Amino acid sequence: MATQRLLLLLFLLLVGACFKQDKNQTSQILPLSYPTDYSPVRNCRPVQGHTSGYIIVRATSDVGALYNAADGPLPQGSLLVAEEYDKADCTSLTGYTLMFKEAPGYDPTADDWHWQRLDDQRDVLEDGRVQSCINCHTLCNRNDYTCSPP
Ligand code: HEC
Repeated sequence: MATQRLLLLLFLLLVGACFKQDKNQTSQILPLSYPTDYSPVRNCRPVQGHTSGYIIVRATSDVGALYNAADGPLPQGSLLVAEEYDKADCTSLTGYTLMFKEAPGYDPTADDWHWQRLDDQRDVLEDGRVQSCINCHTLCNRNDYTCSPP
């Protein structure tokens, strides 16, 4: 009888843990290959309006070239990752913000970007057609909702 109760308790704890994990999903967009395949395209700099204060922007070399060219919309599948830091020398990572170009129709009014804000474990804090991201990036828009100058 005592064993059964113990098992029931363990089961309930396990179920509880699963629900807790469900609340903050790991990002399905930031690839596991990210640390090796993504190089800095913008060095450490202050950013107005992000929760962190400082960013380094990274991309794969092909997307980075298009991002630098700033010549119209980036193609579907493009990913720009901003590493977020709270110190001016960008030494302590606090999380990530990213923009991922979805298929046409995902968000026709904001050029189909999928926005995410992650914590430093890559768990998703904000996700999708995030209006606050879109509003500000519409204002600082350098090219196709991207804002960071070279
Ligand atoms: C109040 C304004 C503001 C808000 C809100 C904001 N951003 Fe930004 N973001 C900027 C600015 C300005 C830069 C460029 C900073 C620089 O390099 O000088 C930037 C840069 C970026 C970059 C680097 C790529 C680029 O050139 O734009 C990413 C990725 C990004 N933001 C994602 C996000 C996401 C995701 C959100 C919402 C969770 C968000 N931002 C909310 C102002 C904002």
